[in-house]
Amino acid sequence: MIEVDNVTKSFGDFVVLRGVTCQLRRGETMCVLGGSGGGKSTLLKIMIGAIRPTSGRVIIDGDDISRMPEAQLNKVRRKFGVMFQGGALLNSMTVGENIALPLHYHTKLDADTIGTMVKIKLQQVDLLHAEHRLPAELSGGMQKRAAVARALALDPKILFYDEPSAGLDPITTTRVDFLINKLRDRMRMSNVVVTHVMESVQRIADHIVMLDKGNVILDGTLADLMASEDPRISTFRTGEYAEGAEGITSTADYMKDLLM
Ligand SMILES: Nc1ncnc2c1ncn2[C@@H]1O[C@H](COP(=O)(O)OP(=O)(O)OP(=O)(O)O)[C@@H](O)[C@H]1O
Ligand SMILES: [Mg+2]
Repeated sequence: MIEVDNVTKSFGDFVVLRGVTCQLRRGETMCVLGGSGGGKSTLLKIMIGAIRPTSGRVIIDGDDISRMPEAQLNKVRRKFGVMFQGGALLNSMTVGENIALPLHYHTKLDADTIGTMVKIKLQQVDLLHAEHRLPAELSGGMQKRAAVARALALDPKILFYDEPSAGLDPITTTRVDFLINKLRDRMRMSNVVVTHVMESVQRIADHIVMLDKGNVILDGTLADLMASEDPRISTFRTGEYAEGAEGITSTADYMKDLLM
């Protein structure tokens, strides 16, 4: 479905991705893991064509999008739905209006048809009752589900989620995970999920790509993650932090920040 081929990305002199290669297969959930600042969101933005790689290629359904003109890219973008880090619902609009937005923007459907489609999407995430409420009036978990409904609006083949569980309690996290699995199993959706919640990874991942300092340090299954003796991977798995240990980059950076 998606082939990321030796992608690098620099912002000025700052190298974020150093030759990332990975594949998303049809109907699977790929989890992208790694420490904070490791380049996960950047990789996701490159996969959806929101930013261009410095070098390398991204092939979606056979089309190389990395050098594609913007107008053509817009058509490819209709194949996927995106739930950005933070959800990003528009607060001045109701939940229903938020979901209608991409339909108004990308299709010529009439208002009645769009109204019906909004209800179907809300039903899929169990939020029909919240159609006329404002995002601020919803709980964090409901906002996430509303954001998933909006990502589903155009019936995408691929869904991208950036930290769908950030700020959620464990039970709500489980609900979001079940929703991700339901969409994969019932609608054959292919998913790319950026997360750092190990429990989520165990529930949803068919395939795991782990980044550290812009390099892929694991490309495999959950079993590979669990069996790895690479200290950068095992510390991530257990959440352990030992002073001076060779852990994944950000853990150490984070401790530095705390101690400052
Ligand atoms: N537009 C940009 N301009 C300059 N630097 C950027 C830009 N976007 C990201 N970066 C830098 O690239 C690095 C990776 O950022 P990215 O958002 O991909 O990390 P991440 O792995 O998603 O982290 P987190 O887990 O905290 O969300 C960071 O150091 C960030 O400051
Ligand atoms: Mg991020």
